[in-house]
Amino acid sequence: MEASPEIGLEKAARDGVIDLLQTLLSDLSVLAAKTRAAHWGVSGLHFHSLHELFGEQYGAIDGEIDDVAERIRTLGGFPVGSAGGLLAGARLLDIDVVRRPAGDLVALLQADHEALIRSLRTSARAADEKFDDAGTTDFLVGLMASHEKTAWMLRASAV
Ligand SMILES: [Fe+2]
Repeated sequence: MEASPEIGLEKAARDGVIDLLQTLLSDLSVLAAKTRAAHWGVSGLHFHSLHELFGEQYGAIDGEIDDVAERIRTLGGFPVGSAGGLLAGARLLDIDVVRRPAGDLVALLQADHEALIRSLRTSARAADEKFDDAGTTDFLVGLMASHEKTAWMLRASAV
């Protein structure tokens, strides 16, 4: 049987940050699916650059999903492992954007990244002030800064 992590965090604190991480995992899963659909469906004058941009962003989010799930395991938890379970915990709206015009795709993804940034800011503060978990705080702040950069790139790509 797997031993519980003796890393200086009470179980209640670990459970608290695991909840935050699980919701983040759900939101990232929705954002990954939307970004991949944008990569598939984009058309028009800006096809090549947006197809590439959305492809890179999908790859980055996919990597983050793995990091978040493994952080949950690091803290002694188990991430939700089914598509339906992940969707049930998401705050971001799950919509099929594959037929949307290029300008809508950029705007919709920008809004999602910005919503995620606001959630990450709140979660990072809770991880620090409420749960005193420096590792998760650092992890969430890093993710937030990465999504801030992505949101800028999307704002700068407005069509
Ligand atoms: Fe592709």
